[in-house]
Amino acid sequence: MPLVSSKPVLQEALRRHFAVGAFNANNMEQVQAIIEAAEEERAPVILQVSQGAIRYAGLEFAAGLVRIAASIATVPVVLHLDHGTDFDQNVRCLRAGFTSLMYDGSKKPFDENVATTRKIVEIAHAVDLPVEAELGKVLQTSDHVTPEQVTAAMTDPDEARRFVELTQVDSLAIACGSVHAMTSREAELDIPRVKAIHAQIPNTPLVLHGSSGVKHESIVEAIANGICKVNVATALNQAFLEGIRKGLAEFPDSTDPRKSIGLGRDAVKEAVREKIRLFGSAGVIDAAGGFTSPKAQFRSAELGAVE
Ligand code: G3H
Ligand code: ZN
Repeated sequence: MPLVSSKPVLQEALRRHFAVGAFNANNMEQVQAIIEAAEEERAPVILQVSQGAIRYAGLEFAAGLVRIAASIATVPVVLHLDHGTDFDQNVRCLRAGFTSLMYDGSKKPFDENVATTRKIVEIAHAVDLPVEAELGKVLQTSDHVTPEQVTAAMTDPDEARRFVELTQVDSLAIACGSVHAMTSREAELDIPRVKAIHAQIPNTPLVLHGSSGVKHESIVEAIANGICKVNVATALNQAFLEGIRKGLAEFPDSTDPRKSIGLGRDAVKEAVREKIRLFGSAGVIDAAGGFTSPKAQFRSAELGAVE
C-alpha cells in the first residue's frame, strides 16, 4: 500500500494507549526486516531516516528503499525524517515524498527553536504533512554525559505547552531520562515528568528518543502515560551485527555475503517483533491493512487497501 502519514497513526496510538515503533534503517536488509516484522505482528510502523543514513545511502536512495518496501507491504508504513537539521532539509524531504517530518532545534534557544519549527510546520501543513519537533535535549552517550546533565536537559512541562501552542507541531519529542546510543538497558525514565507533560498537551502524541538504553518496564509505563512513538536505532544495529558475526563464524569460507547479511536481517526482524509487542502495537492492524478499531481515523478502505 502507499506510504501513510504519521498523523492518523499517532492519533490512534494516543487514543488507544499504545506506541508506534519508529525504527531506523540504513540499508535494504534493515528495511525489509522492519517491515516483515510489522507485517507478522500486524502493526503500523514508522521507518525513519537518520542523518547518518542520509550520509551513508543518500536521501533519495534511503527514501526510495522505504517507498518500495511499503508498496508491497500489508500494514501502514510511514516514511519519517529523523532529527532533521534545518528548514532546507525538511523541504528536500517533503519533495522526496516523506510522509512525516522532524525538525530538531533542541540545541537552539527556545525562541529560535519555535521560529524554525513554526516555519516548517507552515509549509508542511500546506500539503498535509505532520511535523515532530524536540524540546529539552536527548543527549548522546558519545558526549560522556553525567546523570546531572541528563536531568538538567529534561523537558519542562509548561514550556512544552507554550511550545506546542506557538508552533502547532503535531508530535513532540521530549527529554525524560533516556540518552541516545546506549548499548545496555539501564536507564529509567522520569514518569511523573512524562505525566506532567502529557497533562499540559493531552492532544499531542509524545515521542521517546534513545529507547535502546531504557529498561523495558519504564518504556511500558511511559506509553501508559502519553508516549505514542518510540524510536529505536542502536538495539537494531546491535542485532544486525550479531547476526552477521554469527554468519561469518558459521560460514568462514563462503564467498556469498548474503549468508551472513541474511542472518543479520533475521536478527533485526526478531528484535523488531519483540519491540512491537512491548509497545502494545501488535494486532492493531487488520488483514486488509486498516486499524481494527471501529473508531479509528482511518480504516482499510481509506488506506486504499483491497478489502
Ligand atoms: O532518533 C533515533 C533514536 O532516538 C534512537 O535512539 O539509538 O538510543 O535507540 P537509540
Ligand atoms: Zn533520537
